[in-house]
Amino acid sequence: MANFSIPGGPPRLGIRYNYLMRTILIGVAWPYANSALHLGHVAGTWLPADIFGRYHRLRGHRVLMVSGSDEHGTPITVTADKEKKTPQEIVNRFHAENHNALKRLGVDIECYFRTTDTFHKQVAQRIFLTLLEKGLIVERASQALFCVACNRFLPDRYVEGVCPHCQAPDARGDQCDRCGKTLDPADLKSPRCRLCGNRPEFRETRLHYLRLPALSAKLEDYLKSRKGWRSNVLRFTQNWIKEGLNDRPITRDLHWGVPVPLPGHDGKCLYVWFEAVIGYLSAAQFWAKDSGSPEAWEEFWTNPQAESYYFIGKDNIPFHTIIWPAILLGLGGLNLPTNVPANEYLLLSGEKFSKSRGIGASLTECLEAFDPDQIRYHLASIMPEASDANFSWDDFIQKNNDELLSTVGNLINRVLLFAQKTFGKIPQPSAIPGPDEAMLEAAAKRHLEAAGQAIEACEFKKGLREILAMAQAGNQYVNGQAPWKLAKQDPARCQSVTYAALDLCRCLTVAIHPYLPFSATRAWSMLGFDKPLGPGDWGERAPKLEPGRLFGEIGPLFRKIEREPVAP
Ligand code: MF3
Ligand code: ZN
Repeated sequence: MANFSIPGGPPRLGIRYNYLMRTILIGVAWPYANSALHLGHVAGTWLPADIFGRYHRLRGHRVLMVSGSDEHGTPITVTADKEKKTPQEIVNRFHAENHNALKRLGVDIECYFRTTDTFHKQVAQRIFLTLLEKGLIVERASQALFCVACNRFLPDRYVEGVCPHCQAPDARGDQCDRCGKTLDPADLKSPRCRLCGNRPEFRETRLHYLRLPALSAKLEDYLKSRKGWRSNVLRFTQNWIKEGLNDRPITRDLHWGVPVPLPGHDGKCLYVWFEAVIGYLSAAQFWAKDSGSPEAWEEFWTNPQAESYYFIGKDNIPFHTIIWPAILLGLGGLNLPTNVPANEYLLLSGEKFSKSRGIGASLTECLEAFDPDQIRYHLASIMPEASDANFSWDDFIQKNNDELLSTVGNLINRVLLFAQKTFGKIPQPSAIPGPDEAMLEAAAKRHLEAAGQAIEACEFKKGLREILAMAQAGNQYVNGQAPWKLAKQDPARCQSVTYAALDLCRCLTVAIHPYLPFSATRAWSMLGFDKPLGPGDWGERAPKLEPGRLFGEIGPLFRKIEREPVAP
């Protein structure tokens, strides 16, 4: 199906059509399947992606969201070695656990794939061969670190040493955690084997290299044409380019991974980053095949009007703004990332959430203790968009009780209960709304639009603030009008006021849906709608409240959290 729009043209019969269905691909960084997802993953990538996806679906746009488990690479083999299990056992366990936790969190994703799937491996191998044929991948002799004591080539992560950029003493062969720079293990000063501590030596091997310099002109043109990128993303990317784009090895001497699909290359695999980013494409193709229309992925990848957004953490930036675009440019005919709204880190008592270092609450554990929307609300309100953010349980409880519960939940609850008790159904407002009602309606519309714009710009905290402002406007209106007093004094006016308050609640319910889908779904049915919120229901085209209709079953939307010590 092609993108279509019905342009406005001259208004006919007072109706103006101006409807553009956008096509939006959403990629979410693939979590390594060697540990449980934690709140850092949620705030950094999953929640922003899900808010974005849910919003666009509500706008009636075509959305395809893909991600999955990153199941190769040394993080997996490190865990497997430690737990004396096979890598496959490890990834099977965490793939299932993480997928399940995401479902419970309410993440609405079309395809949660995995890189050990044969389909993915085939796509990755085919892309490798295509780039090889095009001369964009070359094979050549290379020096790799070999540990004599362990009798093996050392994967990047198995080498530690001094960072050549910032002199951090414990940089890993793939990356320095302190300065965030991506490294080649050969760059490390005083390298040592992470398994046995000995100094590894260089041995000759043959590796395949992605010829980034051959793509640099195209890459720079692409990067120059991007608009609205976050400054942190631009900064990381430009630093990389400034240091010069070099050929990058994209194969390794490894047994756990996607095998290099060439004869005589036993014991060599595609580098995990090279094949993992390909997952965005393989997952889309798998989804299409799986849903019975094998060409459906093309709409998202080859239609030049389609947009693509990649939600990632800051340590993943160059892979999504340089390596992945380079692969796509090399292949040709596929859409490049429209935007890569990378987040900074969520910190727990000043330290980066990191399962491997034992810092942070796992998502599954949090879901045992709290409702998904409570977690979503808090993480959306502190999302580390422009700088690292601090998570604290105190703040979590306070925001839940003082904002979510008392501003949003309480408004919807008291308005609905009052309307139910007083009228038993949606009351009939007077034909001409009073000035206060007109103002309230305008405020709701304004905040809804502003929230939508913020979400489109990937400013999710700002979107949430608009939503809170809408709820505050509703609370003020209700307090000022005091409909409970009007019930006896002026029943007709009471009907109008109650209707206006209910209508604000309706608008608020639409607005919270991307952020708090469980609560929005409940509030929507409390308002008496029997069809759930669906495509096109954000904004002007949303269903209106019909006077005379009955309410659904009304109950509190949010739980208060009692202050008891919750161990972080
Ligand atoms: N597994 C990587 C990480 O957790 C992210 C991979 S994103 C992908 O840092 F696109 F490469 F899959
Ligand atoms: Zn460093």
